[in-house]
Amino acid sequence: MLKTTFRAGQTLTIGGVPTLKAEDFSVNICTDDNNIALHVNPRFQYHDDKKKVVFNSCQGGSWEQEIREGEFPFFHGTEFKIVIKFNGKDFVVTFSDGTNVVFLNRIGLEEYPFINIHGDCSITSFNIV
Ligand code: GAL
Repeated sequence: MLKTTFRAGQTLTIGGVPTLKAEDFSVNICTDDNNIALHVNPRFQYHDDKKKVVFNSCQGGSWEQEIREGEFPFFHGTEFKIVIKFNGKDFVVTFSDGTNVVFLNRIGLEEYPFINIHGDCSITSFNIV
């Protein structure tokens, strides 16, 4: 868990490379492990999903309604970029191919103290402006 406050008005940019045999990884904007405002979870192959990005939030340890839309612009061993623009009301998540998905800030806070990235990828850059 990275202790880095992410506030309304800010944009987070993460660069990374999925491992050669990556199954999935996720970027999480959270207040703690049980309360995740935004979970962005590219799944190469995970559960029944193949090449799908799952978006969700988690409150009190319970996952909420999943959003599965948009493209899957991720490739094993190839660098990706994920840009998350937080306008207070929503998170606008843009991928390397320029497509985006808008995810409502369901928890409704104006700032989140932790960013957590886990799973089968290595991070090459991280920036908040
Ligand atoms: C679950 C998975 C979690 C998270 C969640 C999102 O099935 O185990 O890691 O991705 O879906 O809804």
